Amino acid sequence: MQNVTLNNGVEMPILGFGVFQIAPEQTEQAVTDALAAGYRLLDTAAAYGNEEAVGRAIKASGIPREELFVTTKLWVQEAPAEENTERAFETSLNKLGLDYLDLYLMHQPYGDVYGQWRAMEALNREGRAKAIGVANFYPDRLLDLVINNEVTPAVNQIETHPFFQRTADQELMREHGVQIQSWGGFAEGKNDLFTNPVLSGISEKHGKSVAQVVLRWLTQRGVVAIPKSVRPERMAENLDVFDFELTDDQMAAIATLETGGSLFFDHHDPAMVNWLSARRLDS
Ligand SMILES: NC(=O)c1ccc[n+]([C@@H]2O[C@H](COP(=O)([O-])OP(=O)(O)OC[C@H]3O[C@@H](n4cnc5c(N)ncnc54)[C@H](OP(=O)(O)O)[C@@H]3O)[C@@H](O)[C@H]2O)c1
Repeated sequence: MQNVTLNNGVEMPILGFGVFQIAPEQTEQAVTDALAAGYRLLDTAAAYGNEEAVGRAIKASGIPREELFVTTKLWVQEAPAEENTERAFETSLNKLGLDYLDLYLMHQPYGDVYGQWRAMEALNREGRAKAIGVANFYPDRLLDLVINNEVTPAVNQIETHPFFQRTADQELMREHGVQIQSWGGFAEGKNDLFTNPVLSGISEKHGKSVAQVVLRWLTQRGVVAIPKSVRPERMAENLDVFDFELTDDQMAAIATLETGGSLFFDHHDPAMVNWLSARRLDS
């Protein structure tokens, strides 16, 4: 597995396993299968409701802690967020059965962002979160956070797939030492991604699947990917992307698939801000 080196020296696998929308009762088996397939980066979130199941699978695997890279995410906290963030972190850590996280992400650019970030900086200083970062930060919010705080986010996890490629955002992040990580790398299959003619044509040339072409395209661009699947054969398929390379022409052909916007939701839409900000987790 290739690694990327984050801005504080922490090493992160370039390909991992995401568990969004896996029901808690299915998650332990899925993570057990993913670890058996060879995944070592696991991506969950307090808001996914499956941290305990992820933790059970980690424990049962017997894999040494230092071989794993575990990410979870802080849900939106009200001001003053310092205390709430510390408490939310402890809850996540307990549910996962871990004593440190490799990466702790602020899940949304909402709530008391500055308070949340200061608390995350403290967790990072204490070594309880080896790296801290954000998710869903568009360039304006990201730059504001970078400029006005001590610790620059190590990672920004954003929607990134062939129909929303984030090329300019990636360039800005590179300038500031923020690693881009893709969520929804397959666009969850939207826009008929798995039968797209451009991607299918390239996949035939390499004797690979469309999913493999997409993951190769992401990782070849230096984007960390965390595909989700509950099927062991797809988990294995999605890991097997390091024995071929896309040509410049193929990268250029995929570039033409850009649609210029999200296929999911607009973080600038007031209705979305209301909806996400109103959501509260039980603990
Ligand atoms: N930070 C955020 O706000 C945020 C938002 C969304 C997601 N995420 C993270 O990003 C991860 C990935 O995104 P995602 O789960 O939304 O979607 P995704 O990885 O783009 O797509 C997952 C879908 O693709 C299917 N799939 C997986 N491998 C396949 C293959 N080889 N061939 C055909 N179909 C395949 C899966 O079905 P099966 O399971 O049936 O195989 C599932 O329906 C999440 O799990 C989560 O960790 C973060």
